[in-house]
Amino acid sequence: METPQIWLKAVDSTNTVAWRLWEAGYRRDTWVVALTQSAGVGRRGSKWASPLGGLWASRLLSFARPLPMRSASWLGLALALATARAVEEVSRVTARVKWPNDVVVGGRKLAGVLVETRGVEGQALAAVAGVGLNVNVRIADLPPALRHKATSLYEETGERFSLRAVLLAVERAFLPLYRSLLRGEYIPLAAQARQRLLLIDEPVLVVGEDGAVWRGRFAGLDDDGRLVLDTGAELLHFGSDQVHLRTESASSSAYLSGGFSR
Ligand code: BTN
Repeated sequence: METPQIWLKAVDSTNTVAWRLWEAGYRRDTWVVALTQSAGVGRRGSKWASPLGGLWASRLLSFARPLPMRSASWLGLALALATARAVEEVSRVTARVKWPNDVVVGGRKLAGVLVETRGVEGQALAAVAGVGLNVNVRIADLPPALRHKATSLYEETGERFSLRAVLLAVERAFLPLYRSLLRGEYIPLAAQARQRLLLIDEPVLVVGEDGAVWRGRFAGLDDDGRLVLDTGAELLHFGSDQVHLRTESASSSAYLSGGFSR
């Protein structure tokens, strides 16, 4: 059966609207989509600029049986991979994923993903997986501070795309990944991630909230989707809420070597 979609003109945040549905007792997996958001939220509580032309969409995931947090921790990467795949399908623009779950084209951020979960004792009862994808957005319509590190499908191709077609492509790519997570299988997802993750096997800097810096090779992801850094002396594991990933080389693009919240 098709996942229902609720399209709205203007909301505060589609993640918040999806949670309001869940809090009101609604238990069906559903996409909540808005043409604009007045209070779009990014990772780490940052603001997410949401002008007309973007796909601002949140998928409510209501689990029939509680989902172990380990599986839930892969949802963001699953939605980012699905978004990258959808982008390629509809536009033929090559998209990569920057850990943990940014979708990047040519060193600029095209989309971001924010997953929130609600649950008890290591089990998720529901999640809201939100994606912000610059489809027909003009970079000039984004805040000046973002213009040098963001891109859109319109800027990349000079074409406009149907938001509904893009959402359908995202859903088509997301569903098999989501189903495998529901079965507790995240290894296929990790394998797919290896193909699409930027900087994998390359020298990187991992920067902590307090400015601490670790140098090493981005060796892969562990069972919880945490970044594994091979320092040469040891393997260190980093959760996505603790650190930023940066390139070693200062000549890399502004987005990849700089911060990545919007
Ligand atoms: C990031 O910081 O990269 C994540 C951005 C996620 C933005 C999307 S837009 C749709 C959904 N609603 C929100 O308020 N945030 C997410």
